[in-house]
Amino acid sequence: MDFAWEELTPAQRARHYADWHAGKGLIGGDPRQRPDSDILPSWALGRSIVRALALDDCRGPNGERFRRQTAGPIPLEIEIGFGRGDFLLDRAARRPERWFVGFEVRTKAVRLALRRLESQRLENLWLSDDDARVGLQLAIPDQRVDALHVLFPDPWWKAQHKVKRLFSPPFVDLLAAKIRPGGYLHLKTDVEQYGELVRHLLSRHPAFRDHRPELADRVGPYRPTHRENWCRQNGLPVWNCYFLRRE
Ligand SMILES: C[S@@+](CC[C@H](N)C(=O)[O-])C[C@H]1O[C@@H](n2cnc3c(N)ncnc32)[C@H](O)[C@@H]1O
Repeated sequence: MDFAWEELTPAQRARHYADWHAGKGLIGGDPRQRPDSDILPSWALGRSIVRALALDDCRGPNGERFRRQTAGPIPLEIEIGFGRGDFLLDRAARRPERWFVGFEVRTKAVRLALRRLESQRLENLWLSDDDARVGLQLAIPDQRVDALHVLFPDPWWKAQHKVKRLFSPPFVDLLAAKIRPGGYLHLKTDVEQYGELVRHLLSRHPAFRDHRPELADRVGPYRPTHRENWCRQNGLPVWNCYFLRRE
């Protein structure tokens, strides 16, 4: 399948911002329009689950604990679209001195990862089934994130689904607001043109530098995601990109 993108005209850029502000392209629709979006489901109460719109739900300690733990000086890493959670859970286990937050819109996948997190007794990891575009914006303080991992984002091949693609000019603005100066974005994809799109958007943004392969050292040893394993087994190339947030 073809993954098409082209340099945006000013009118197309303006359309991206208008869609973003209208909440278009959010997976599952705009949560602000959903009934009961200000409360957590009962299965989440008292567990390591957070939803940005339910931070003030006082039926459980989730919001208060999340705010306290993510507000402090301890380094924070985020993964968007963690799927089965192999990379995220492994990373949280390897680095108990850091906090981790994972966003994954598929609630079923989040509940599975939650069970694994609890059986491994990981106490430095929060999971969320928010669309990351809402979760990052509303639940994560500005300039707080040390590393943000996006591993094999959905390409959304069809033209009419492009609005759901994670990477767009307003999303890169959001990354610039949340990643601290000196922090970095880590992207992996098996769609070469998606890598090119991300590189195009990031390298033209004043807050980021172009891809720097040497930043791979900051990630260090890791457990590959399900998709990365699949690519390895099927001999598919994977593109890795690392973008430093300027000081
Ligand atoms: C192609 S899968 C890759 C999953 C995993 N990272 C891997 O490498 O195996 C992309 C994942 O991102 C999730 N996702 C897509 N858009 C998202 C968004 N806006 N916020 C959070 N998760 C998202 C999807 O539900 C899906 O699980």
